[in-house]
Amino acid sequence: MVTTAPIPALLPTYAPYPFPLVRGAGDRVFDDRGQAWWDFYGGHCVCVTGHCHPVVVQAVATQAATLLFYSAAAALPVRDQAAACITAFAGMDSVFFCNSGAEANENALKVALLLTGRKKLAAFQGGWHGRTLLGLSVTDDPKITDPFTDQLVPTLRLPFGNIPALAAADFSEVAGVILEPIQSMAGVKTASPEWFRALRAKCDASGALLVFDEIQTGMGRLGTPFAAQFYGVQPDIITSAKGLASGVPMGALLMTAAVATKLKGGDLGSTFGGGPLACAALLATVDVIESEGLMANATEAAKRLRMELTGSVVTEVLGEGLLLGLRCAQAADLKGHLLARNLLVGGSGDPTVLRLMPPLSISGEALIALITAIHSFVPEQP
Ligand SMILES: Cc1ncc(COP(=O)(O)O)c(C=O)c1O
Repeated sequence: MVTTAPIPALLPTYAPYPFPLVRGAGDRVFDDRGQAWWDFYGGHCVCVTGHCHPVVVQAVATQAATLLFYSAAAALPVRDQAAACITAFAGMDSVFFCNSGAEANENALKVALLLTGRKKLAAFQGGWHGRTLLGLSVTDDPKITDPFTDQLVPTLRLPFGNIPALAAADFSEVAGVILEPIQSMAGVKTASPEWFRALRAKCDASGALLVFDEIQTGMGRLGTPFAAQFYGVQPDIITSAKGLASGVPMGALLMTAAVATKLKGGDLGSTFGGGPLACAALLATVDVIESEGLMANATEAAKRLRMELTGSVVTEVLGEGLLLGLRCAQAADLKGHLLARNLLVGGSGDPTVLRLMPPLSISGEALIALITAIHSFVPEQP
């Protein structure tokens, strides 16, 4: 008789850590045996204020007990406050709230198509923007995009950070250009401020909307509220999610007034978007980032890692702030070595780059644990 393996109730997606997590506090998470793990993965670049920050927890608990949910059918003071707070923080004029990164990008690209009447998009080699159909159209990851080739919107794909290729590209039919200001999954790739300025100028000249996917680079991670401030370029739209509400699901489409004034009521919508729980968590998140100096901590921690990893097996520290890539020829072995010392880090699409995207509140103790463990790594000789 042929027996088949039972289907797990929870559909497998990612290969999880070899232990379940039951608790988090600050820059550590705890497994079901009480073992602590330093979290340099940040719950997938989400936990900007650290795990279970008391201010965030209190804000969520209070809001849950006051008004757990009401949709955009009702005006909510907490939603208006969250909108004022995040637009001021991001240096943008208006916000549409949704629930995830993919949904934020989907709406951003829809807005570009809608407002320009054009039918093409532009994006960059190595870019990663989510699993909806417009998100996949601009994502450069054949293993998840290939099954849908016929359903995707035509996209011009340019090399990231390359000024001559940008100058040569034809944007006359492009509705919107989307990019991760630092390409995370591709291996923490950065581009020069000159390239960002050239991209802005090219969009201005062609009428294409410039969309920064700041789902990883935003919420203080680079030491500035968003990468737009870090690189000194004003996009037309910024998308945010992940750290936006410290882990309470939330996405946002932040727009300039020029974009927002062209949208009519009903062009965008979402039942859960801008729900009171997420809005309360967002307000607490921005409060903690600002009042506890987390952006300065991100900058300092990155400086320290760059300095103290010199001379180790890490040959290059890539990225900015606390979105960092550690280049190491034996990255997979190093990841295993760190896991064995209770340190969680991420891999990337580049097999020689490990990613660090910890809480912005990462402590000196955690940094020492990581630096010491990396210096103790002895790669196997080939
Ligand atoms: C840069 C970037 N854009 C978009 C997304 C999609 O976000 P979500 O998983 O919340 O849909 C991700 C998720 O990893 C991301 O890293």
